[in-house]
Amino acid sequence: MKRILTGVKPTGIAHLGNYFGAIKPAIELSKNKDYECYYFIADYHALTTVQNKEDLYEYTYHIACTWLACGLDPNHVVMYKQSDVPETFELSTILSNLTPKGLMNRAHAYKAKVEANEKIGEDKDFGVNMGLYCYPILMTADILLLDSDYVPVGIDQKQHIEIARDVASYFNKKYGDTFALPQELISENVGALVGLDGRKMSKSYGNTIPIFADETKLKKLVNKIVTDSTLPNEPKSLDNTIFKLYKLFGTEEQTQQFAQKLKTGISWGEAKSELFTLMNNYLSPMRERYNYLQSHRKVVDEILRNGAIKARNLAKQTMQRVRNAIGVVKI
Ligand code: ADP
Ligand code: TRP
Repeated sequence: MKRILTGVKPTGIAHLGNYFGAIKPAIELSKNKDYECYYFIADYHALTTVQNKEDLYEYTYHIACTWLACGLDPNHVVMYKQSDVPETFELSTILSNLTPKGLMNRAHAYKAKVEANEKIGEDKDFGVNMGLYCYPILMTADILLLDSDYVPVGIDQKQHIEIARDVASYFNKKYGDTFALPQELISENVGALVGLDGRKMSKSYGNTIPIFADETKLKKLVNKIVTDSTLPNEPKSLDNTIFKLYKLFGTEEQTQQFAQKLKTGISWGEAKSELFTLMNNYLSPMRERYNYLQSHRKVVDEILRNGAIKARNLAKQTMQRVRNAIGVVKI
């Protein structure tokens, strides 16, 4: 049985880009009986940016409830919080000694920050904390600790999995075969989902549609989607945000009919109203489940507690191997 692991940072409110790009594909994957899945909330990773205790606490529940409301079955997927598996941080310390500093200098997130600083004439490390700089090492620890075979991630995270593979190889070369070499799983067909303004949907652009926005809010957001100036009755190109979103929610037949309507010229107002109805029908049951879980946090606590026990059992076995390998216990 192959082991799949992925993590989500609790840094904000999950949106449709996160749902179609990360959550839904990972849930589909977990239905495959050949895989054993570990999906965790990377709360220590969030500390690079979320440094307010209420925010971290709330975002963590938000992510847990989101996965469960989107269909994660805790009987098939081990869901846990990173902070409940302290072996992660021990392994991270050990791995930092095998990670060349140059590798961290080349990591995308850090490099982007340096480039932005240079552009505005700041010191290159302005605003960079060690959590950000060493982020790929902590992520490597998450992955290697549970002997993960596959790591489903967005394309932006590909480099991190490559780093994890490199670090695992350095370790294996020096101390003998200890870690499985992880492989990234990138869902190619999704691509970037567009937001209200037509750019990639992202928290940092403020153009998102939250998965669990209530009906009134959802309607408001759909009405805010930017369209072109085609008049009612004029045929519309299918290269627009309304249609791109519709395709994700509709069946093939519904999508074809909608395309036909756009081509024959329904107004943008009507198109938005049809999109809203379709989305709302799809999202309502998930929203209800989400609201239920948010008001029954004990249910979530229990799931996370069980998940932590299972993850820690594996983590302890790995750490025994690692401690033996490096020589901190009697040989
Ligand atoms: P944001 O850009 O809103 O900060 P994150 O970086 O937290 O989003 O996204 C977490 C994961 O969700 C990404 O690795 C990616 O897999 C997926 N994702 C985010 N935005 C999109 C999008 N617009 N389209 C497809 N997938 C996305
Ligand atoms: N860095 C990932 C992100 O920003 C989250 C993450 C942390 C992760 N640890 C992981 C993903 C381990 C996969 C495996 O989206």
